[in-house]
Amino acid sequence: MLSEKLGFSAYCLLIATALVVSACGGTATPAALTQPPATIAPATMAAPVVLPTATLTVSPTPVEIFSWWVGPGEADGLAAMVKLFIHEYPQYTIVNAAVAGGGGTNAQAVLATRLAAGDPPDSWQAHAGQETIGTYVAGNEVKPLDGFFASTGFGKAIPTTLLPLISKEGHPYSVPVDIHRSNVMWYNPKVLAAAKVTIPFGGFSNWNDFFAACDKIKATGKVCLSLGPEGFTVMHLFENVMIGTMGAAKWNGLWTSPPSTQWTGADVKAGIANFRKALSYTNTDAMTLSDWQPASKMVSDGNAAFNIMGDWAEVYFANPAPNGLALKPQIDFDWTPTPGTQGIFVFLSDSFVLPIGNKNPNGTMAWLSLAASKAGQEAFNPLKGSICARTDCNPALFSEYSQEAMKDWATDSVVGSLTHGVVANNNWKAAIDTALKLYLTDPSETDQFQAALAAACKSAGTCR
Ligand code: GAL
Repeated sequence: MLSEKLGFSAYCLLIATALVVSACGGTATPAALTQPPATIAPATMAAPVVLPTATLTVSPTPVEIFSWWVGPGEADGLAAMVKLFIHEYPQYTIVNAAVAGGGGTNAQAVLATRLAAGDPPDSWQAHAGQETIGTYVAGNEVKPLDGFFASTGFGKAIPTTLLPLISKEGHPYSVPVDIHRSNVMWYNPKVLAAAKVTIPFGGFSNWNDFFAACDKIKATGKVCLSLGPEGFTVMHLFENVMIGTMGAAKWNGLWTSPPSTQWTGADVKAGIANFRKALSYTNTDAMTLSDWQPASKMVSDGNAAFNIMGDWAEVYFANPAPNGLALKPQIDFDWTPTPGTQGIFVFLSDSFVLPIGNKNPNGTMAWLSLAASKAGQEAFNPLKGSICARTDCNPALFSEYSQEAMKDWATDSVVGSLTHGVVANNNWKAAIDTALKLYLTDPSETDQFQAALAAACKSAGTCR
């Protein structure tokens, strides 16, 4: 890669036509940040959307950006980043190759097919952790970014927790743009009040207390815990129940090689028992919902009390229409850690990669520069419900929820999400997902489910 050989400063000079200095390590561009985000029409697999660009004398060259940020609560942040990109890099246009489907289930399948066919997008969304390192780096599909991290100063700006998760043998391989939290339980204060349910200060300390609250909610005729379809929402619930049952240290122990927490042991068994019970309080139509948003909306509509979802749900609730519901925090919706996870921050981070064999490597470097920059992250994260993957963003730009998340990120025990790519590579996650799908057909089959989880660990090669 040209820029890797030359170092990124030289690369910036080489592609300097109309480049704005900020993305190559200078200051932010405040004017761009004050403008409303551009709207990206929902993209589909069949019809990628080409966004408008500034007027140029030569045609801008396309940079194809692949993600799953299409729907409500997802698209606003991407639109803001794209808008800033085309302002700062008018020599490029963005081809938004997003594939709809929360959690990336559909997108990752499409991406895998494209990579197998030798047709990588110019950059794609990849979770920090094993999804990047154990999947795309292991598959020799992306290039290291040492020069970029050094010359832009991004290597010093990203939180120390994140750097090892996007690195292999000391080489960084992707550019994290956000930090999201998985263990958030959203609730409707009015539904709780009607059922005379009060959340203990700091949250439910265990699942049994939560189930007792669910019994009261159920008695009022409401769903206690709304759930979306299989795809990622079920695994998202599963990881939260497991962590809330066994705690941070034992959860981490499931993913070490060899595991220090036994997949066949009592902790996993207890987690599965709580998961089974949690499922019994969910809506019967979960599997027919289109994605995570309708399940979260059951809470804000007052049809359900609680929904466990990452903090992209916050901006779905609070962002203005058409992508958000324009609701008021603490009045129309509120949040608490998922049961048993006080003091734990279950994290995930979206990042972008530099593929091997893509069409527009210079355009990719420009996109990565924007994604890494303070200006890019301050444009993206407040609209995405996430916090910056840099330590120098201005907290005043963020919602009350996100300001709390920033404090918790700094003080809590940080553990990695399974559903969102941190602790297991795509193959291991797929094996767990298959076990989950089978389990859902008969939740009484807890032993069979635990055996399937243990087998998935064996196939992953860490359980002997
Ligand atoms: C996660 C992703 C988030 C959000 C969410 C729902 O995997 O990291 O940024 O998009 O899926 O789709």
